[in-house]
Amino acid sequence: MIGILHLSLLMGALCLASVQAAAPYRLLAPPLDTPWTSKVGTKPWPQHPRPQLRRDAWKSLNGIWTYQPARGADDVANPPQLPLGQEVLIPSCIESGISGIMTMGVTHMWFGTNFTVPSCWDGRRVLLNFEAVDYEATVYVNGAEIGFNRGGYSRFSLDITENIKQGVNELLVFVFDPTDDESIPVGKQTKRLSHIFYTPCSGIWQTVWLENVPNNFITQLDLTADMDGNGRSFTLITAWVAGIVHSRYKTATPVEISVIADTDGNMVSVHKHASDQPFKFNVPSPKLWSPDSPTLYTITVSMGSDQVNSYTGFRSISSGVVDGIQRPLLNGEFIFMFGPLDQGYWPDGLHTPPTPEAMVYDLEVIKGLGMNMDMPSLGIWKTPSEAEQAEFERQLEVMVNEHKSYTGIVSWVIYNEGWGQITKYHPEFAITERIRELDPTRLINAVTGWYDHGAGDFLDNHHYAEPQCGTPWSSLPSSPHDPSRIGFQGEFGGIGLRPADENLWPLQAARDTINQTYEMHTGAASYHYRAHVLLDLLRQQVERFACSGAVYTQMSDVEGEVNGLVTYDRRVVRVNVTQWRQDVRALYAAAEARAGTA
Ligand SMILES: *[C@@H]1O[C@H](CO)[C@@H](O)[C@H](O)[C@H]1NC(C)=O
Ligand SMILES: *[C@@H]1O[C@H](CO)[C@@H](O)[C@H](O)[C@H]1NC(C)=O
Ligand SMILES: *[C@@H]1O[C@H](CO)[C@@H](O)[C@H](O)[C@H]1NC(C)=O
Repeated sequence: MIGILHLSLLMGALCLASVQAAAPYRLLAPPLDTPWTSKVGTKPWPQHPRPQLRRDAWKSLNGIWTYQPARGADDVANPPQLPLGQEVLIPSCIESGISGIMTMGVTHMWFGTNFTVPSCWDGRRVLLNFEAVDYEATVYVNGAEIGFNRGGYSRFSLDITENIKQGVNELLVFVFDPTDDESIPVGKQTKRLSHIFYTPCSGIWQTVWLENVPNNFITQLDLTADMDGNGRSFTLITAWVAGIVHSRYKTATPVEISVIADTDGNMVSVHKHASDQPFKFNVPSPKLWSPDSPTLYTITVSMGSDQVNSYTGFRSISSGVVDGIQRPLLNGEFIFMFGPLDQGYWPDGLHTPPTPEAMVYDLEVIKGLGMNMDMPSLGIWKTPSEAEQAEFERQLEVMVNEHKSYTGIVSWVIYNEGWGQITKYHPEFAITERIRELDPTRLINAVTGWYDHGAGDFLDNHHYAEPQCGTPWSSLPSSPHDPSRIGFQGEFGGIGLRPADENLWPLQAARDTINQTYEMHTGAASYHYRAHVLLDLLRQQVERFACSGAVYTQMSDVEGEVNGLVTYDRRVVRVNVTQWRQDVRALYAAAEARAGTA
């Protein structure tokens, strides 16, 4: 940083009018790479980033931007000249190799780029959309401060119509990210690396894009599609699409909603309604959605001159008693849920997967083992102050609103293992009620692991390595199963086997913590034996007790944690796939036998 400053002073003195070139982008070798690292390129993530509210007129701003560290918090008032000192790939975490920066400990930073607006967009509004910037972003367009966002995991949108001009526009983003110096939602990011807390992610780590909209436009589309409108009746003759079309002026404007079957492209149902108020309409005999048959229908919505595409799947989620046991129900039937804990971490991109193909690979591994779900973790891990708690709850609502139209999400999880969970009083009760109001169509897991006080639809136990799923006993700090709620094993497993050095995160500090893995094996034979024993124990608990699903730790190794189904670089599948497929099938068979559906 001192070097850059020094150089720019020198250049300034020599030739005031000339613009200094930024240090060119270079993909930096991450500590450990993946099969996709070399495929990152300089036009990453070209897909439309918001498939559930998609217009044709959009333009990605992903690619090479410039970056420089800022001098501190006050620097936000002094936007620098473009280009900044060093090129950077957007989106990325600045701590990652794919960013081209790969630096740690920078809390205040600038990002900048130039953009042009397509000429055919004239006369309509232009939105600048950020899918995620960790943690705070202050945005300037052509020198004017146009917006601010707090929260590293949610999208925000700024109307820049009045700030843009023909030709080249300048965009600057000031980012502040304290990571875990403050009590904010950070997931497992830490500045103090330890066994189960990892390298942080700072900056613009998801897609940035422009969008062209008419004056009054659809700002949000909340969609749910039930099998029967309320999840209670089991006749599959009709189903319902329900939701709200939110518009910019928040006043009732006529909208038309169409449901189209993706398989044959046929219009299934059309409905006319008004924006900004709930609607509900009937769709005759749609094919229902399930993990085994994930049928989706295209939705189009038009409002005035605005038209958007979206999609939904028809399915109902509820909780009900089946053969004497409280169960999660999908389309009215008990479904045993089984999947891996997924930290969403990559050695080359950290929070940003290197490519979309890399992300799909993980999902294919999960499906290939016969699992039917994937659970990401998010949380805070210090007792928050009153203001921090209010901010946590605000961001939680933003996240629920952002994700509530996704068919595949079946429940919301508020707290993980007591992280940031205030225990003087039990805020999870009020938060559960609030989330239920925002989204009455899903189940709520108020507390996954540890300090359960009776809130929410699940009693979710964490126990390593052996599961204690829906059992009448428990190990501290969790409590034994409460039959009025769904018995669930939110975490178990976590057994480890050190991979070859070439597949291992090479940082010594991380390697030094490997022996903190819950259970370490010195060879593959005992590792495979124990994996089978743990899955078989779970099967026995499904047979005997009130076990309705489980999450195995974990998808991949992460840094010094060597307990993944696959190694951190995704080059080695660690588990015995044949054995796992048999063991996972046995879980579903046991669950079906218990529910009388075998
Ligand atoms: C933006 O525009 C300026 C002036 O035209 C140019 O010097 C700079 O290299 C451009 N690009 C970036 C990424 O700053
Ligand atoms: C971890 O445990 C193994 C087996 O006991 C031992 O050989 C190794 O030295 C330990 N490593 C560290 C870093 O403590
Ligand atoms: C994997 O499991 C199958 C089924 O139990 C077994 O036949 C095979 O020998 C195992 N392979 C390894 C490498 O352990």
